[in-house]
Amino acid sequence: MSFFKAKVVPSARLKNQTSLHRCLTGFDLILLGIGAIIGAGVFVLTGIAAATKAGPAITFSYLLAGIASMFAALAYAELATCVGGCGSAYNYIYTGFGELIAWIIGWNLLFEYTVAVSSVAIGWSGYVGDALLLSHIYLPTAILKNPFEGGWVNLLAVGIVIILGLVLSVGMKQSARFNAVIVFIKLLTIALFIAVAIPHVNAANWQPFLPFGWHGVARGAALVFFAYIGFDALSTAAEETTHPQRNLPIGIIGSMLICTLIYVVISGLLTAIMPYPLLNVKSPVADAMIYLRHPFVASLISFGAIAGLTTVMLVLYYGLTRITLAIARDGLLPVRIAKVHSHTKTPIYIITLGGILIALVAGLMPLQEAAELVNIGTLSAFVFVCAAVIVLRMTKPDLPRPFKLPFNPIIPSLGILMCFYLMLNLSLITWIRFIVWMFIGLLIYFTYGKKHSIRRHLN
Ligand code: ALA
Repeated sequence: MSFFKAKVVPSARLKNQTSLHRCLTGFDLILLGIGAIIGAGVFVLTGIAAATKAGPAITFSYLLAGIASMFAALAYAELATCVGGCGSAYNYIYTGFGELIAWIIGWNLLFEYTVAVSSVAIGWSGYVGDALLLSHIYLPTAILKNPFEGGWVNLLAVGIVIILGLVLSVGMKQSARFNAVIVFIKLLTIALFIAVAIPHVNAANWQPFLPFGWHGVARGAALVFFAYIGFDALSTAAEETTHPQRNLPIGIIGSMLICTLIYVVISGLLTAIMPYPLLNVKSPVADAMIYLRHPFVASLISFGAIAGLTTVMLVLYYGLTRITLAIARDGLLPVRIAKVHSHTKTPIYIITLGGILIALVAGLMPLQEAAELVNIGTLSAFVFVCAAVIVLRMTKPDLPRPFKLPFNPIIPSLGILMCFYLMLNLSLITWIRFIVWMFIGLLIYFTYGKKHSIRRHLN
């Protein structure tokens, strides 16, 4: 046993080589949260969800998904401050349920984040491609589309992933500054949309309000849940936050409240200024401005959307690297990849490996159904995070809890029920893919992770 330990336990030097730098404040975290949360979910999916799933009642879908996410956010805030670590849900579930379930959820999160960044990169390249066309810059189809759509590789999507990988490698404080500038542009864009839309509200567009019934509202919520993904990435910053006990709850809950309010207002206005059946387009928020005959505002909004999508990718890519780091530190993935750069203090190997995977998926694959797949992985993690709060309050009542979610176990139980309900509203094919992915994860665990696990051999 001791021989085995000597082989797998990382040296103190390696531990030092994998420590991150504490530099993020509560304000940085709120901005990172808004940076991660507001993106394709509202700039792209609102239109599809309103036109095909919920009609004008899409505001209720946003509220429903927002309430489920808020319950999960409270659970994340409690666990991020009491369990901590850069592995987010993976770490909390490790503490609450042990290694196997933690690995399954960590494996889901790796997939969720990789596919989420890839899909947003493809959306981003679509917006940028359109903007280039409008500026009379014509790029060959071969480098604009993936092989499934008649091209070779989506080079714009690959390009943005490389740039973001470089930004993340430079250091977290620099990444946070870059994020703050873009979040400012994103919020200005949203304010501009609201200001232009309000005088054009026409209550007749809200008739009928529930064209697809309450079932449509639930299906809409399962889809627009995508719009809330990202606050969970904030908890991966636990090791890089100053006073995490105070600042993490401020960042997580603050950014969620702001985003929920913004979504309800945007979706309410969008369906009030134009008939919902016309919203099934790629860029509904910008197109609505063209519908109102404000083409210049539409271009500004497209620019803001491009900026918005950029920060979503940045923060989710960041989250991906930190969760991978936590899993690799535990030996469930090769521990050597967890080293951080001696000068920038960033996990340079993981950033590079993650970037290659994201760029491959973004450059070569069509990812139309990816949003649902991302949602099911995230929702399953949320269910376990809420359950981990209840379990840990019973099994480890003495753990210091600087932030306690109120009304335990009611709030986390409601979180479990609502997230599971949203999962049930996703399609069968999404469930099948989800189960196949988990099966692959189990194979990896039993053939590699279990043998190399560091925590298991320490206990
Ligand atoms: N919440 C993020 C978005 O809407 C993933 O793009």
